[in-house]
Amino acid sequence: MKNEFSSSTFRWLACVLLATALIGCSKPPPAPPKAPPTPQEKSKNTISKAAFGTLPDGTAVDLFTMVNANGMEVRASNYGGIITALLVPDGTGKTTDVTLGLKTFDDYVKNPPYFGAIIGRYGNRIGKAQFKLDGQTYKLPKNDGPNTLHGGLKGFDKVVWQAEPFEKEDAVGVIFTYTSKDGEEGFPGNLQTRVTYTLTDQNELSFDYHATTDKPTVVNLTQHAYFNLAGDGNGDVLGHEFTIFANEYTPVNKLLIPTGKIESVTDTPFDFRNRVKLGDRVNVDNEQIKFGKGIDHNFVLKKRQQPGLTLAARVSEPTTRRVMEVHTTEPGMQFYSGNFLDDSLAAKSGKPYGKHSGFALETQHFPDSPNQPTFPSTVLRPGEEYNSKTVYSFSVR
Ligand code: BGC
Repeated sequence: MKNEFSSSTFRWLACVLLATALIGCSKPPPAPPKAPPTPQEKSKNTISKAAFGTLPDGTAVDLFTMVNANGMEVRASNYGGIITALLVPDGTGKTTDVTLGLKTFDDYVKNPPYFGAIIGRYGNRIGKAQFKLDGQTYKLPKNDGPNTLHGGLKGFDKVVWQAEPFEKEDAVGVIFTYTSKDGEEGFPGNLQTRVTYTLTDQNELSFDYHATTDKPTVVNLTQHAYFNLAGDGNGDVLGHEFTIFANEYTPVNKLLIPTGKIESVTDTPFDFRNRVKLGDRVNVDNEQIKFGKGIDHNFVLKKRQQPGLTLAARVSEPTTRRVMEVHTTEPGMQFYSGNFLDDSLAAKSGKPYGKHSGFALETQHFPDSPNQPTFPSTVLRPGEEYNSKTVYSFSVR
């Protein structure tokens, strides 16, 4: 009886083992590892051009659409170099427009707050709308109280640029050129300007600025895209998390002109050296925040000690897991938290842009440098070259 039981148990066990082995054998062999796509298989970056609109003087304006091999897309016009759309993947791979913009070309011509545009000849404010260079005083148009903002009444954001698209193995882009005439908006010297937009297959959008002059002048070029990494029209950006690689900032007076001091960010709302939510910094009781109605300040980047392209800021949006990094060769960055947006614009999404609907990180020299002898110089002389580069790179975390 005992033996009988043992042998039937043994037979049963043998059957189970045999069945398991058979099932195992009938499993398909594991798939060999997938080879990386060949250059032919990889989807190709493209650039195309379409009509965007016509200015009141009859000048036709174009819109360039750049798409990289990952499907990231940038649309930019030769009117002011305006970026009208920037489609970037989120943590699930879904691509959404993350830049603020308007519905039609005519809306852009009606003087919006510099959405997506190239800013020049002088980015940000010049106090009392004048500056002295080599003993001569130059008077500029006042377009921000008694001051000049973003190049005057008709800055580089409102002119038509020559545009030349290009395609490379791993990038597409447009070279924008514009000659700003001697005396234009009060600035001396014919300024030959070139701004190259490049979209790479590494999800980077870069801006290369170059200028030369035939008379001493001042130059400070930047890009004024507003971002909402949760997607355009998707509420405010107060939940975005910012890290800014700056130990100091330049405090301002109530008209947002720098006082001339360079102050430590320690124990101020401007200390973004460790990741912090924007909402924790714009609703605080602080005179500087009051002056800006939020953050509207120039950060003195740590890179002052490191030449070349270095990391200025990292912004992440927790719900979509999008991350944007800013690298620049510039010594400063104006962080503007969309404080003056007031629901009045024809937003492309149809949802109004209220306060803090977007943020801008404008890499540049410091505001009002032509009147501030202690700030890095923005003077450009004949025979010299103005060169500046900024890269916005997008990823997920
Ligand atoms: C300025 C703000 C201004 C905004 C839009 C920013 O660069 O610092 O004060 O309101 O541009 O014009």
